[in-house]
Amino acid sequence: MSALFNSFALKDVVLKNRLAVPPMCQYSAENGVANQWHDIHYAGLARGGAGLVILEATAVSPEGRISPNCLGIWNDEQAVALAKIAESIKVNGSVAGIQIAHAGRKASANRPWDGDDHIANDQPKGWQTIAPSAIAFGGGNLEKVPTEMSIADIERVKQDFVDGAKRALDAGFEWLELHFAHGYLAQSFFSAHSNQRTDQYGGSAENRGRFLLETFAAVRAVWPENLPLTIRFGVLEFDGRDEETLQESIALLSQMKEQGLDMVSVSVGFSTPSAQVPWGPAFLAPISERVRKETGLPVASAWGIDKPEDANRVVEEDQMDVVMMGKAYLADPHYTYRLAKALNVDKPSWILPAPYAHWLERY
Ligand SMILES: Cc1cc2nc3c(=O)[nH]c(=O)nc-3n(C[C@H](O)[C@H](O)[C@H](O)COP(=O)(O)O)c2cc1C
Repeated sequence: MSALFNSFALKDVVLKNRLAVPPMCQYSAENGVANQWHDIHYAGLARGGAGLVILEATAVSPEGRISPNCLGIWNDEQAVALAKIAESIKVNGSVAGIQIAHAGRKASANRPWDGDDHIANDQPKGWQTIAPSAIAFGGGNLEKVPTEMSIADIERVKQDFVDGAKRALDAGFEWLELHFAHGYLAQSFFSAHSNQRTDQYGGSAENRGRFLLETFAAVRAVWPENLPLTIRFGVLEFDGRDEETLQESIALLSQMKEQGLDMVSVSVGFSTPSAQVPWGPAFLAPISERVRKETGLPVASAWGIDKPEDANRVVEEDQMDVVMMGKAYLADPHYTYRLAKALNVDKPSWILPAPYAHWLERY
């Protein structure tokens, strides 16, 4: 059996293989409410055979959305619609995960295909953003200067994460990922590029990690012990000070592990537009391996791992426990079947449900 097709147990949840669909924004909601697009999209991905399907960044508050069309989890109408999606994922054979998020200074943007740029505050669909410091992301299209968060703002957003986690649980999700990556709010607390506070939330690595640690601990207190609680975290920025950042990240993850972190999805910080990301096949795998070894945490990772041999190798060589594939699953929701065939898994058609598998095996 190929390593990629071994099962993976975390707390009381068992993934039938090491493949996960990572969160991918669909920018297709109105008022944060999931609709038929989301239902069919996620049901199709689950049917395609990945062990875990994680819903896209779902905002814990209106101002935490990346775009006006992002999913939300701050009210009951949204939670009811999300419960339907969780059910669709489960009846189609996968584990239902969700990523809850706050976009911080990168919020209030147009959809990528509508420009990906900030929407001005005086436009009907725009809003004022918040962040640890009043520093714009800069870089091309995200020039809006956020409002520096007060301590009361920090407390409110932590509570929004807690409320979002409770709603996710009630909606039937079995795997929760906190979005602490990609230059959004939590990552922007951790990064000195975006955090120049002089209070207990800024300055030293310990202070810059405080918002993440406190938010994590508050969510852990309401998320059941028997279900996985994970974070997606940009462990480095590719900004020339990567060894230092990686060491700070590993120290923070080790602290979170002591507080009940079950797994980390290793990613990139994306806190500065001047980062020099070395895009390439499986380029994060060695970083993921190091985080896995030094923290002792189970690790998932993504970014350019779509070739069958690469996907199998990163698991076989203990670089990560779970492989996330984004664009490959957008191109072909049944990509797990393609991988199974390429890796000579026995009866690969049966990765898919019987009404497909029977015919694919036969002809
Ligand atoms: C359309 C799209 C939307 C995305 N949305 C999110 C998101 O909501 N949350 C997140 O953490 N990453 C998001 N990402 C990043 C993906 O989860 C993934 O890391 C990325 O696509 C790299 O993996 P790949 O090379 O297999 O596509 C998104 C990527 C794409 C293509």
